[in-house]
Amino acid sequence: MKKTLEVKTGTDKYKIFIGNNILSSSGLLIKKKLVSQRVFIITNKLIYRLYGKKLENSLKKNKINFSKIIINDGEQYKNIKTVNLITSKLLKYKVDRNDTLIAFGGGVIGDIVGFSASIMLRGINFIQIPTTLLSQVDSAVGGKTGINTKEGKNLIGTFYQPRLVISDVSLLKTLPKREILSGYAEIIKYGLIMDKKFLNWLLANESKLQKFNKKYLIEAVFRSCKNKAIIVRKDEKEKNIRAILNLGHTFGHAIEAVNNYQKSLTHGEAVSIGIMMALDMSSLQGNNLNKNINIIKDHFEKLKMKTKIPNNIKIKTSINKFKEIMNSDKKVKNNHINLILLRNLGEAYLANRYSNRNLESVINKYIN
Ligand SMILES: NC(=O)c1ccc[n+]([C@@H]2O[C@H](COP(=O)([O-])OP(=O)(O)OC[C@H]3O[C@@H](n4cnc5c(N)ncnc54)[C@H](O)[C@@H]3O)[C@@H](O)[C@H]2O)c1
Ligand SMILES: [Zn+2]
Repeated sequence: MKKTLEVKTGTDKYKIFIGNNILSSSGLLIKKKLVSQRVFIITNKLIYRLYGKKLENSLKKNKINFSKIIINDGEQYKNIKTVNLITSKLLKYKVDRNDTLIAFGGGVIGDIVGFSASIMLRGINFIQIPTTLLSQVDSAVGGKTGINTKEGKNLIGTFYQPRLVISDVSLLKTLPKREILSGYAEIIKYGLIMDKKFLNWLLANESKLQKFNKKYLIEAVFRSCKNKAIIVRKDEKEKNIRAILNLGHTFGHAIEAVNNYQKSLTHGEAVSIGIMMALDMSSLQGNNLNKNINIIKDHFEKLKMKTKIPNNIKIKTSINKFKEIMNSDKKVKNNHINLILLRNLGEAYLANRYSNRNLESVINKYIN
């Protein structure tokens, strides 16, 4: 069971393979993309322990030489220090422009390896093997790379496309439930912003998705990547339409920030709350969504996704503070918060004019 998709940008194109148990035959796919026969697998201890041998065996079978670089696990290591570590190790190994890096892990590894690849020898090839649902449907596709600084998340980074993406949904069986739901927030986002048919399919197959049915999971990953590919093709560098991928994110990032990025709320949890806020705001702005908001809310609740900040999380903020944080989001242009809102299910738009009173009333509802 394998599906293939092509991502095209102005200058590049590459394939995404999505399937069940395709890691064990990944060597063959990788081999076709190599210039030299040498790759560097960059991963963390946990992923290496779970799936490292499977990848290595497939590389060996295809006579690909490999070395591995293990980095620490966690968002807190997505920084310049780790980039330093990766690039020094590569230089010690005498990395060549024809060599290839393999990002083997979730979004943290994908972002940091993509960034390292883009600056190493002014750019060497890299391949994404995403191992979390979020990275399979979002971060591994589209070529955004980045690291965090104390000033904020992903403020340093590049646009740099991989040569190939291999998404094996069988790897998701070891992923904690919370991480799965975090990825699901991004999946439903595609339905909401641009694909009503997909949204209806997700709603209709709620119980299959809940039970983690592989066939349905492959389909969900495939249709998410397909939507993302459409957007990236139109606007690789987020000059306009790509911004709709941020539905729920400007609100969500502010929630993450007022919670001090603590683990009590994951990115996906903050985004699912952010999506509910964006839906409420869309409705207040006069878009006829009332009934639909309840359908989405019910769906989230059935899947045990967050629709509001849980009572046990105490957040100290005010409407103004929250707005200020939203204002510092890097999507803000000319000191004005642009919001991604829905005209209808499956149809997003960028709103740069809206009622400030409505915005404040939405924030008030969710922070209290
Ligand atoms: N570049 C982009 O376009 C883009 C888009 C969205 C998010 N991101 C970035 O992605 C990052 C979040 O990615 P994430 O949610 O994948 O988190 P993550 O990479 O931190 O992975 C979550 C946890 O799951 C573990 N893990 C990974 N695969 C596993 C598996 N198969 N089984 C068991 N455990 C596994 C990881 O070691 C980690 O502890 C953030 O840094 C965010 O900024 C980037
Ligand atoms: Zn996100």
